Amino acid sequence: MPVHVIADRRDKLATLRLVLPARLEPHFHLLSDVRGMTTAQVDAVVIAVDIRMVENIAALKDAMRQLGRAERRIFLISDRSHVAQAQAYALGATRVLHDPVSPALLIAQLSDQVALNWSPSSAAGDAISAASLASARLSKAFAAVASGMNIDVTGMEEAAIAIADSVMDDGLSNWLATVRQHHEGTYQHCLLVAGIAVDFGVSLGVPSADIRRLAVAATFHDIGKACIPLDVLDKPGKLDPEERAVIETHSSLGHFVLKDTPGISAEVLGAVRHHHEFLDGSGYPDGLVGDSIPDIVRLLTISDIFGALIEDRRYKAPMSRKDAYEILLKMRGKLEAPLVAAFRQVALGQ
Ligand SMILES: [Fe+2]
Ligand SMILES: [Fe+2]
Repeated sequence: MPVHVIADRRDKLATLRLVLPARLEPHFHLLSDVRGMTTAQVDAVVIAVDIRMVENIAALKDAMRQLGRAERRIFLISDRSHVAQAQAYALGATRVLHDPVSPALLIAQLSDQVALNWSPSSAAGDAISAASLASARLSKAFAAVASGMNIDVTGMEEAAIAIADSVMDDGLSNWLATVRQHHEGTYQHCLLVAGIAVDFGVSLGVPSADIRRLAVAATFHDIGKACIPLDVLDKPGKLDPEERAVIETHSSLGHFVLKDTPGISAEVLGAVRHHHEFLDGSGYPDGLVGDSIPDIVRLLTISDIFGALIEDRRYKAPMSRKDAYEILLKMRGKLEAPLVAAFRQVALGQ
């Protein structure tokens, strides 16, 4: 499977030469040498180019005319803004990773037989394909929100259904392991929470049509984080009170940007706005109390907290499922006790 790597600087090519194994048949090119290049077959391209520079964009558009047929077009970008991601997708990316990239993550993205053109019948039960599809759709949705464009709601729903099918076919543990191995940051979180919510719904005997609605709500729940600066969102370690206040705007911001989007259900809007509310009124943004918090949101809140605790982050080891469940048990008064008790079999994988 030939992989073509294009960079705007020799040192970037040198780094990627050390990272990519020979079995991927990598070919390395400087952006300035790409014009007029002919290639017989291209399975994947890796683009490590500063797309903030106008001259690079012109050269890259030229290169993409030649290499745009590649099924996988992975852009490595150092600008960690959502707008930069949107620009990479506009230039033809199928996946955007942050530079410096984890070598394992890049190789996994190039090696997997990823079904980017997922259809419900072809990918059900395939966790890697479902997670790749969902991550790509999330990434595009975040980029759309950050650049003030409409979200592809149907695309997000397809992603949620792929997640639901995978968890119902292959189980939650397989889903959690796949997502934590191949995905990072906010997308990893959303994928984990969606999978956990699905398994929670299944364990409660929720009908499959409702499971899918739950999966859609969970996939969308943190869309407002597209409006939060990435240096706050991805800050390693503890947030200060000011940063915490910025993060806490994500639920109302998500509701604001989605409320006029055609095709968004009231249920998804409610989940986006209220997934940080607690029964005792101590949550945000509206300080809802008790019965005013819908059932689907209560399930989602438990799944969200658990998902955040067991995330795999570069700067800290993931918490065990058992320890994360202990923390849920300590949140008495905030979460619905019978639901937390029912969550035990999801949390502990029983
Ligand atoms: Fe959230
Ligand atoms: Fe969340």
